[in-house]
Amino acid sequence: MAIVIVVAIALAGATTLGTRHILSSQLDRQLDTASARQATHPGTGTCASIPGRGPAPGSDVLGNLLSSIFVARCANGQVSASMVAEGEVNSTVTTTYPEALGELLAVPADGHRRDVDLTGLGAYRVLSQVRDGTVYVVALPMESVNHAVNALLVLEAGLTVLALTTAGVVCRRVIVTSIKPLNRLAATANQVSELDLDSGEVNLPVRVPPTLSDPATEVGQVGYAFNHMLNNVEGALEARQRSETKVRQFVADASHELRNPLASIRGYAELTHRAAHDTPEPVRHAIDRIEAQATRMSSLVEDMLLLARLDNDQTFDLVPTDLVELVLNAVSDSRAAGTDHTWTLDLPDDPVTVAADPDRLTQVITNVLSNARKHTPPGTLVATSVSIADGLATVRIADTGPGIPESVRDTVFERFARADTARTASKEGSTGLGLSIVAAVMEAHQGSVHLDSRPVGPGSEPAGDQPGQHGTTVVLTLPLA
Ligand SMILES: Nc1ncnc2c1ncn2[C@@H]1O[C@H](COP(=O)(O)OP(=O)(O)O)[C@@H](O)[C@H]1O
Ligand SMILES: [Mg+2]
Repeated sequence: MAIVIVVAIALAGATTLGTRHILSSQLDRQLDTASARQATHPGTGTCASIPGRGPAPGSDVLGNLLSSIFVARCANGQVSASMVAEGEVNSTVTTTYPEALGELLAVPADGHRRDVDLTGLGAYRVLSQVRDGTVYVVALPMESVNHAVNALLVLEAGLTVLALTTAGVVCRRVIVTSIKPLNRLAATANQVSELDLDSGEVNLPVRVPPTLSDPATEVGQVGYAFNHMLNNVEGALEARQRSETKVRQFVADASHELRNPLASIRGYAELTHRAAHDTPEPVRHAIDRIEAQATRMSSLVEDMLLLARLDNDQTFDLVPTDLVELVLNAVSDSRAAGTDHTWTLDLPDDPVTVAADPDRLTQVITNVLSNARKHTPPGTLVATSVSIADGLATVRIADTGPGIPESVRDTVFERFARADTARTASKEGSTGLGLSIVAAVMEAHQGSVHLDSRPVGPGSEPAGDQPGQHGTTVVLTLPLA
């Protein structure tokens, strides 16, 4: 609309100026003709006549010209003036418009056309020149020119407003109608953007309707390209899902296949170990290592197998389970395994029932407790508590150990993430899979796990006995059954 308004104004301006110029040139030609006639046709307004008598100068050619004024100042100083209106000569100008007459005589007689505003008469175009000692002045009214230009301006303004209004209304309607299909496209795009595409089985059921995907129209081309893109994305996601499934299946199969040979290795190592009384020390040591590493590999394979299963299918057989009993047993086991640590328990009196797979949940709690045992120095306090709040059961396991090293703190829940410290590395049971299993199992239980770890800083106090000051706190939450 702004562009149209600017163009309309420019057009109106150009037309007005052009018209004004054409009309002015026409007036100038008439002025020249009248001036030429004034000198050659004797009459009022010339020196060759008695004022008030004789033919009007040029009235025959000027015809319909209104209120033309002819003035002559003769060589003897006598001034003769007349006004021609519709062919009638009026020689009383001298007395009727004395000021105008003075203004006309004041115009320099140099043969140039000038615009003069005459008192009582309005705008005039004046030509004054000297011939044979006589000053001839002709003045033609600008009124007709101004009138025509003004009328044109009014007409143009009216037409412009009308055209702008019509153009505005029509354009708006056309644009709204033609853009409406784009809203449908945007809605489809929004729908797609809300889909959860980052993992798992993906299908993109959303498509732009066929009416909007006809490539013959502009909007249709967008719709068509959009559908094409969706097909492409869907294909890529399917391929991604297929290859992911394949890899998972492979890991599951490989872990499964490794179980039996590993069991054999362990069995034979154990057998050899028992029978090897008189074997030399280095050989006995080697056999010990074989047994230990085979055991470690077995637990690694078990963990991998469990994770692969959790990846493929996160549904468990959930049964009502008493969390208190489960935690009690797990802590008892840890207490037996970690006699160097101090184990405390804070349990509610009543059972806390959650829907869970008891074996998997025990594994989760055992993993967290064994971390508190394996990754902390002897003498560390491990405080375990169970509580209920807002329909959620919470298990809190806090230790006063050194905390999780910075290098793994952000990635502890990822697979094979473990600190590469001498202590951890020396631990046979460290696989880096413990906390990823915790996260996966808790997710399968619609629960969550939060970990807060404050390391012992260089300036902080040595390990105290107040859990929460430093050390690691793991909070497991589960919905109550
Ligand atoms: N309570 C803890 N105190 C200190 N470090 C911990 C604790 N729990 C976990 N970590 C760190 O997080 C890493 C990952 O733990 P996890 O996934 O259970 O693997 P793993 O115990 O097999 O090494 C561990 O290697 C250890 O460095
Ligand atoms: Mg662990």
